Amino acid sequence: MDDDVVLSAPLFATMDADETRTLFESMQQIELTRGDVLFREGEPGDRLYVIASGKIKLGRRSNDGRENLLSILGPGEMFGELSLFDPGPRTATASSVADSVIYELGHDQLVEWIEKHPGVAKHLLGALARRLRRTNETLADLVFSDVPGRVAKALLDLSTRFGEETDEGVRVAHDLTQEELAQLVGASRETVNKALADFATRGWVRREGRAVVLLDLDRLERRAR
Ligand code: CMP
Repeated sequence: MDDDVVLSAPLFATMDADETRTLFESMQQIELTRGDVLFREGEPGDRLYVIASGKIKLGRRSNDGRENLLSILGPGEMFGELSLFDPGPRTATASSVADSVIYELGHDQLVEWIEKHPGVAKHLLGALARRLRRTNETLADLVFSDVPGRVAKALLDLSTRFGEETDEGVRVAHDLTQEELAQLVGASRETVNKALADFATRGWVRREGRAVVLLDLDRLERRAR
């Protein structure tokens, strides 16, 4: 297990090696397999999590049972902190889309830690601000962009987290079903599928089950704008 990924999280920024170790060793390791639900939207929550490996999806469900994915998080990313900074129930359901290892920290412990190391708060605010920027962008895309544009953007976003350079292009093993990809884009499975098939016909991507190889990043970036 690569501890360095966890230690790169904003939670550990500005701390020296000993302090970092102390905090890290006080966190509990949790192993999840695909489909495990860590917590559900609306539940009370008193812990936050940092991902060491794997993928976690954060989703919300409408009253009529439809699902929307807010984000797919990967190694080094943190979640579960909102119910600490704004006390209230969990704002989303967190579940694993691939076998994952995550580390858990109690909110009480985090508060103590921030009081001892105020510099950490700046980095946590930075992480929250980046998330707000991304959420604003997603919101604007839902209003202003068409489905193919949003699919292109989602693929590029997933590639920054899970992409691997290959001779052919960037291989993104997203582990999402077609349904999950559609929930992430905020469109029907059929429309998302059609966009992907069109990208494949144009030679911009190649589909491989729960992965996609991005063959022409320039075209995808232009389509995402
Ligand atoms: P919390 O509300 O405790 O539990 C669900 C978590 O999902 C939340 O904390 C955040 O960490 C995370 N989350 C909520 N909304 C978003 C979003 N739009 N993008 C990324 N992560 C989010």
